[in-house]
Amino acid sequence: MNTIFSKVDVENIDINVLEIATTILKNGGLVAFPTETVYGLGANALDAEAVLSIFKVKGRSCDNPLIIHMANEDGFEILAKDVPESAKKLAKAFWPGPLTMIVNKSDAVPLSTTGGLNTVALRVPDHKIALELIKYSKVFIAAPSANISGRPSPTKGEHVLSDMNNKIEMIIDGGKVSIGIESTIIDLTSDIPVILRPGFITKEMIESEIGTVIIDKACISTVADESIIPKAPGMKYKHYAPKGELTIVEGNQEDVCSEINRLVLKKDNPNIKVGIIATKETMDKYKNGIIKVIGSKKDEITIANMLYEILLEFDDLEVEYIYSEGFCGSGLSQAIMNRLIKAAGYKVIKL
Ligand code: TXA
Ligand code: MG
Repeated sequence: MNTIFSKVDVENIDINVLEIATTILKNGGLVAFPTETVYGLGANALDAEAVLSIFKVKGRSCDNPLIIHMANEDGFEILAKDVPESAKKLAKAFWPGPLTMIVNKSDAVPLSTTGGLNTVALRVPDHKIALELIKYSKVFIAAPSANISGRPSPTKGEHVLSDMNNKIEMIIDGGKVSIGIESTIIDLTSDIPVILRPGFITKEMIESEIGTVIIDKACISTVADESIIPKAPGMKYKHYAPKGELTIVEGNQEDVCSEINRLVLKKDNPNIKVGIIATKETMDKYKNGIIKVIGSKKDEITIANMLYEILLEFDDLEVEYIYSEGFCGSGLSQAIMNRLIKAAGYKVIKL
């Protein structure tokens, strides 16, 4: 299959591109498109056959449900039932935006979209291309991140192309995304809402709208514990991983830098490439290996935005071992560590 790759100017969206994408979606095909979080691999959410091709192309297990993207909260009426007041409040506060809500599904949503569950994940993305595509096509778009399962999520059109070229009908390239990690997911079907995946919209932000919520233990655990089964089916798989072996080193800054230097020296030789994820504050402390600066420790927004891009750059460079500093704190750093720890397959050295 020849993949159409269309660059689109976000400020001046080409209707012809939307027209081609609409035809593809209506015929059951796949269109990758940018959102504010990561690129999505879209299909008509109400077409059970079309949705199955998402699972096939990504190599994704069919029990791992998809998020349906809508143009506004009117979609609740069609896709959901028994929508709680809390969902409406959160929609007012955070949509369009990087928050996905789990509610009970209506009969309109095929079980293949929800991985067999009676609940459905809904989101209104905050990106002009995504919103225009949904509005123009009048299609509710089911879209997981547009990567092969297990790999880092794409934050640029080129990332999608390298995973999906010749496998899907179309890629709409809208440049680099603004957030860079996936949406926060909150399950509103239980008495106390549960955050299933941390993201840009933090627990504190949600609590200021609807009161107490809890975070699923599985997504903040720093050790692999098989007795903790994540409530979001997708969070149980190894995830976001670069091709190289990633290890996180945590502790006070000076100890972390000298331990990473020691580990790099042990591995570094002309035949083996070693990478370091450093911060502005520590970049000068590293002498060997390929050093990538993810941003200032004080700037979590930039760190989140650069994480997948750096992991994918190390892949392009065929780096075999990667060492990263840890990022602790609350709010967004919880989401950053959740992704980093999974990318490392829980390989964390605590000093
Ligand atoms: O930012 C995002 O959310 C991006 C963009 C494209 O919107 N999408 C994304 O989708 O990250 P995906 O498929 O990579 O991750 C969706 C997660 C999976 O872990 C899945 O198991 C969970 O959401 N999920 C979806 N529906 C669910 C449901 N009904 N109950 C529990 N978890 C659900
Ligand atoms: Mg994903």
